[in-house]
Amino acid sequence: GTTLGASAAEKGRYFGTAVAVNKLSDSVYVGILNREFNSVTAENEMKWDATEPNQNSFNYTNGDRLVSHAQANGMKVRGHALAWHQQQPGWTSSLSGTALRNAMLNHVTNVATHYRGKIDSWDVVNEAFADGNSGARRDSNLQRTGNDWIEAAFRAARAADPGAKLCYNDYNTDGQNAKSNAVYAMVQDFKARGVPIDCVGFQSHFNAQSPVPGDYRANLARFAALGVDVQITELDIEGSGTAQANNFATVVNACLAVARCNGITVWGIRDSDSWRASGTPLLFDSSGNKKAAYTSTLNALNAG
Ligand code: G3I
Repeated sequence: GTTLGASAAEKGRYFGTAVAVNKLSDSVYVGILNREFNSVTAENEMKWDATEPNQNSFNYTNGDRLVSHAQANGMKVRGHALAWHQQQPGWTSSLSGTALRNAMLNHVTNVATHYRGKIDSWDVVNEAFADGNSGARRDSNLQRTGNDWIEAAFRAARAADPGAKLCYNDYNTDGQNAKSNAVYAMVQDFKARGVPIDCVGFQSHFNAQSPVPGDYRANLARFAALGVDVQITELDIEGSGTAQANNFATVVNACLAVARCNGITVWGIRDSDSWRASGTPLLFDSSGNKKAAYTSTLNALNAG
């Protein structure tokens, strides 16, 4: 293939990007989006604060714009994210216990119902495990409603949209460590007990302090062996030139080596679109030119 999406499709996979809906009026941005990518994730527009600014009053305007753009251009949509401790609307801060649990489930049900049939994979729960060596759940208002909040969210999502793949998504779980071991144990438990889960997302935000782990492929493979798809969901890699290009190729090769790694999403198009305040972690420079990292990514997708 000659584009990321077409080359990934030849390998039975998608290649996606996070999209900021307000950039759909930027012709350079949209030109690259439509040429290169066959999957999109809303960078912010399907999050709780965006979709339920007031309790039980839903706003799907920007999320719907992205879905329409995707459908018109033959792109899959990854839904992001139904339940997360960040980017909650202000009104959740006055809730706890059963009231917060019910508000979360109502949110999951309404948003997943609104987008039913249009979402390939949903990040049902995002970033629910603590960093470091504890292997514990992250403390949050949602966690304080009870340890079963994650499975409750997955069950509500399945009931609302039986056709979407339901994913657990996190960062610093890309290699084998205490945090990924804890997620692994949760997925294993969910599969054993019939809690609906179909996929695990590995965000893959890499930089000098957090490089591509040496056991990245092995970690993807052990999750896949549990009977879930694995997806690289928010890829960006700090750096430049050959080193950065090689790191992107390593990630692509790891995904291609794992049969159930069915898609890769980068977290933005141009370096200037990145959530990182500074740096050059993406595949296109700020003018929209292809970087060495783009070429190595495309070549890796086309190899073999
Ligand atoms: O839209 C408002 C704008 O009106 C306001 O003037 C401005 C002033 O701060 O803020 C704008 O909202 C910002 C929003 O991005 C849109 O640009 C928020 O402040 C800012 O917090 C928000 O950041 C997002 C971040 O998640 C929030 O946690 C990033 O765009 C987004 O890339 C980032 O994405 C996360 C994933 O969802 C989960 N994994 C990690 C990843 C990177 O942090």
